[in-house]
Amino acid sequence: MEPIKVVKMTGDDVDEVFQIEELIHPEHHWSKDSFYNELANNLASYYCVKDTSDKILAYIGCWHIIEEAHITSLAVHPDYRRKQLAQILIIKAIEDCYKDMIKYVTLEVRESNTEAISLYEKFLFETIGMRKNYYQDNGENALIMFTQNIWYDTFKNNFKDIKNKINKVLVSYD
Ligand SMILES: CC(C)(COP(=O)(O)OP(=O)(O)OC[C@H]1O[C@@H](n2cnc3c(N)ncnc32)[C@H](O)[C@@H]1OP(=O)(O)O)[C@@H](O)C(=O)NCCC(=O)NCCS
Repeated sequence: MEPIKVVKMTGDDVDEVFQIEELIHPEHHWSKDSFYNELANNLASYYCVKDTSDKILAYIGCWHIIEEAHITSLAVHPDYRRKQLAQILIIKAIEDCYKDMIKYVTLEVRESNTEAISLYEKFLFETIGMRKNYYQDNGENALIMFTQNIWYDTFKNNFKDIKNKINKVLVSYD
């Protein structure tokens, strides 16, 4: 795979991000306005993975609220999966958490989304609860996943191990 870069998402990226949203979630994707609103939100940080021709391959969004971070969105273009891109984005999001003295990272995930659950478990997220009928399109339950305190050695050592196994060439990193 070509070198990639991890860059802050801007308004210029929204059309392309929206195309990926539509492709992945034909029935229940975010609107373009949701992304524009998120980009204007001071609590939120959004990043894209781009290739050297600036094609968007993946993106993530995360909110920081006092000592907690909430991953709001994560998607990898279907043609670019299983290439560590989701891991690279989660690493970026967690590095931001360390900079902001965040202690815990949380998210919701569909209970049928075994790929994503396995991804989060790799980063030592644990399921701590469930929101019944959370998703409006099909009434599916959401699992609530949380990290342990990210400053604990078990979390940090696992995080370091994952980082060391990333074998992509990062040409730039915002
Ligand atoms: C879930 C998703 C983000 C994973 O992206 P990805 O770039 O392919 O993931 P990575 O290559 O970084 O894989 C990291 C880990 O995720 C898990 N994983 C990813 N795809 C998987 C699959 N098809 N089956 C099982 N586990 C999978 C594995 O634990 C993997 O670690 P491993 O390679 O050591 O086995 C991607 O499949 C996606 O965009 N899905 C649709 C959107 C979505 O579900 N987003 C999450 C919403 S909460």
